[in-house]
Amino acid sequence: MSSNTLNFDDIQGDILVGLPKRVQQYIIFQIGSNVAGFRQALTQLLPLITTTTQAMQNRAAIAANKKAAQEQGKTPELLKMSGVNIAFSHVGLAKMGINDNIHDDLFTNGQQADAQSLGDPGTSSGFPISHFTPSWDAAFLNQTHGVIIIAGDSDDTVASVRKQVEAIFNVGGFNATLSEVITLSGSVRPGDQKGHEHFGFMDGISQPAVQGVDTSPNPGQDTVHQGVILLKRDNDNTSLLRPSWAKDGSFLVLRYLFQLVPEFNTFLQNNPIKESSLTPEQGSELLGARLMGRWKSGAPVDIAPFQDDPELAADPLRNNNFNYTAENDNRGANCPLAAHTRKGNPRHDLQEMPLPIPLEPHRIIRRGIPFGPEVTPDEASSGKTSQSRGLIFVCYQSNLADGFTFIQKTWANQPFFPPKVLGPVPIPGFDAIIGQATDETSRTIAGTDPLNSTGTLHLPTEWVVPRGGEYYFSPSLPALRSTFALAA
Ligand code: HEM
Repeated sequence: MSSNTLNFDDIQGDILVGLPKRVQQYIIFQIGSNVAGFRQALTQLLPLITTTTQAMQNRAAIAANKKAAQEQGKTPELLKMSGVNIAFSHVGLAKMGINDNIHDDLFTNGQQADAQSLGDPGTSSGFPISHFTPSWDAAFLNQTHGVIIIAGDSDDTVASVRKQVEAIFNVGGFNATLSEVITLSGSVRPGDQKGHEHFGFMDGISQPAVQGVDTSPNPGQDTVHQGVILLKRDNDNTSLLRPSWAKDGSFLVLRYLFQLVPEFNTFLQNNPIKESSLTPEQGSELLGARLMGRWKSGAPVDIAPFQDDPELAADPLRNNNFNYTAENDNRGANCPLAAHTRKGNPRHDLQEMPLPIPLEPHRIIRRGIPFGPEVTPDEASSGKTSQSRGLIFVCYQSNLADGFTFIQKTWANQPFFPPKVLGPVPIPGFDAIIGQATDETSRTIAGTDPLNSTGTLHLPTEWVVPRGGEYYFSPSLPALRSTFALAA
């Protein structure tokens, strides 16, 4: 086995392949006082944990089922299927007595300590040392020890797997070894919104390919070294310092992000891009596409700048094949420099910096799921959110400073990114979707009007509101077996 051959039985399935899901629960837990009992129970959980091999088999079964149904002219029936993964916070590892330094300070300090620097709203109090408390839901202000992910084809499937998991940890019994802090329940949106997040845009289109895993990447899909996602693999530059049990694990970032959908829609309605050929509705739709970098269908504005192209959106050989180098796109003609997808993955932009800088360390694998109900007629007509909905954002990477936090802090929240050396160029502004400003009056974005690259648009509301989160570590199966779990 060469050093960069992975054993897919060793890696949890959500990281490289993703657990197939219609419904997903994130059970955020604390370990009880009987730590040995918890670690013994982990031994019983191991057979339930979905490996990468199994996740691949599940995806292959779904594809075969879909193909067979299509050949018979039928709608495929959902296959009954489930998946389980587990990850731990630093406090959780310490509670289990696993104290070796994994060499990631953000992980060790936890997300709450990082919230101010991420730009999350909150309050500071205390003198002379001021303490920042993010405006998160109470559940996330306590220290949580880990998260169990249960994915499945339906609520019933997930509920029955959950019962099995709860029985393993005696949840609800006097000798429970784990207690639930909060469960976040997500589900894929209904009908033709399947795969779309709550603002209405198709999600999950662009992911990096991982060497030795995604061996035939689609055009435009970069391949990254395994160590960008997995610890102690090629290009994990902290590899040598990490303990051996960290190998083939990955840091899981969880963010509980609320979305103000009616308010976002009202903003689009009130600020249509004014071109003589566009109706106000089309102008609003174009504005939305230019803020996101893709149309709701998923078609990239870099290739389809003025009109949606659903065929392009659905074609994996074309829908990622762009790098913001189209004519005049250096100034954001096709895609504003601060569009969400361009901030999150600037593609060729980094090659143009005064000195080219590598993009690879900043790639992440995203695995989120929407939560909450569809917008009600009352919310739509009032333009005001009254029901909680949003995205349970999850991503994997081998280094939190280079991955999620870099994208959020250094790109999304920074108006000067991506900088341009060829003028006249605008200051790109904030990522309208996730960019967080310390002072909301300063949240602007440039070049939303394709004919005016330096014109700015004020973004009055942060439509994505963080209400909690944590940095977790998703260990390999061998680590779970030999370091985390105890024989009964
Ligand atoms: C509620 C919050 C969010 C929404 C509604 C959202 C929505 C989307 C959508 C619709 C896409 C395009 C589909 C795709 O390329 O897969 C996308 C891409 C992406 N998002 Fe987000 N996102 C959110 C939060 C975040 C966060 C917190 C980050 C990281 C800090 C992030 C990073 C990315 C990246 C890296 C891409 C891929 C860009 C590319 O490769 O072209 N997103 N997002």
